Amino acid sequence: MKNQVYIKNTIKPFNGKIFVSSDKSISIRCILLSSIAVGKSKIFNLLESEDVLNAIKVVKKIGVKIIKKKNHIEILGVGINGFDAKKNTILNAGNSGTLARCILGLCSGINNQIKLVGDKSLSRRDFKRVIKPLNSFGVNIKSKAGMLPIIFEGTNFLTPIKFIENKGSAQIKTSIIFSAINTPGITEIKSKKSRNHTELLLKHLNYPIKIKKIKDYDIIKIQGLSQLNPFEYKIPGDISSASFFIVLTLLSKRSKLLIKDVNINPSRTGILKILKEMNGNINIVNKKYYKGEIIGDIKIKSTNNFKGINCSSKINSSAIDEFLLIFLVAAKAKGVSKFEKLDELNKKESPRLNIAIKFLKMLGIKVLRNKDNIKIYGNPKLKLKGKYQIKNFLKDHRVFMMSVVAGLTLGGEWKINDSDSIETSFPQFLSKIKRLGAKII
Ligand code: S3P
Repeated sequence: MKNQVYIKNTIKPFNGKIFVSSDKSISIRCILLSSIAVGKSKIFNLLESEDVLNAIKVVKKIGVKIIKKKNHIEILGVGINGFDAKKNTILNAGNSGTLARCILGLCSGINNQIKLVGDKSLSRRDFKRVIKPLNSFGVNIKSKAGMLPIIFEGTNFLTPIKFIENKGSAQIKTSIIFSAINTPGITEIKSKKSRNHTELLLKHLNYPIKIKKIKDYDIIKIQGLSQLNPFEYKIPGDISSASFFIVLTLLSKRSKLLIKDVNINPSRTGILKILKEMNGNINIVNKKYYKGEIIGDIKIKSTNNFKGINCSSKINSSAIDEFLLIFLVAAKAKGVSKFEKLDELNKKESPRLNIAIKFLKMLGIKVLRNKDNIKIYGNPKLKLKGKYQIKNFLKDHRVFMMSVVAGLTLGGEWKINDSDSIETSFPQFLSKIKRLGAKII
């Protein structure tokens, strides 16, 4: 069957060194921010995936010139309020929540009606979370039940806002920061801690943004309508993509892996903290700073004595895209693992909490759910023999890749649908995993 992979053998012991694909969050932010800079930015090592390609298509549609060079891309920024959007332009964000939510903020100064659409998965996701603050800036937004398609109309008369962001969502925070850049005066956000690539990049560019760290929150003040300087940026590896290889190595027998040049910004490394606490053999070496971010190499060795974890919800935002993998490790751990306040997981490309619970039960793992809290009763002896088919997951790339890791480490015979889902974030996932010796048909 087209787009289905078949796995019937666990991966043999391996000892490898890899680079994973470039960071998706930073790639999208670089495209969007360089498009409002004044002049030519150069981005090296940009992630070449569908989500990023859609970001390029979207800004091109509103007048930004992008030129692909041999080993970088050039973006000719139009400056704040420089977009050229015809009335009723349709912007398609594809599968990307980050692009969709952030482009609304970036376009808040466009004084014309624009329609924002997305694919089936994105069209079931919540946009009320950004509609509310953008409305307060003065943007006019029409949508049914706060979902795509959205018709929005920005204005030249935006007014600054004060907003409390309580979900720990970097997409909401970034959408507001982008709108604040289009707005005269100072916008203030009290934002529950979440990935901070936008703030770090703006600070690095000397854009007037102030951040005060308080317990569990950041107070961010942005001065609008300041000129943004063009920049050069080399995108590091994505910790979220690296995580599939981290868990693959941990759960494989007698294996070792070195993953080079991964972004290890603390707002993204919840998975490393969680897996280390569960006994995962993981070490970071060669740490260096790059334009406010931290990059390092990750060394992983197979681990066979995982223990359960009582995971505080404070860490959720920094591990938000990695929970499917963390649950897989919990399934092999000794004892019970507890996770709490996972409501945001069901709001991703697919309802990941529901899917994960079904998945673990299918493997014979006991899982108890109480609202958005779950307990996973691990089984260190877990060895699968049955046949497993994974389908109907809204083409969620992370569900696909986690299932491949499960198939290659836990045994059993697996058929996993929708392999083309990896195009959104990690197009070389299958070729890289095969190079380590995995037999995937
Ligand atoms: C992202 C933020 C997270 C994450 C998503 C990428 C970003 O979403 O799940 O994959 O680049 O800002 P939320 O902000 O909704 O938590």
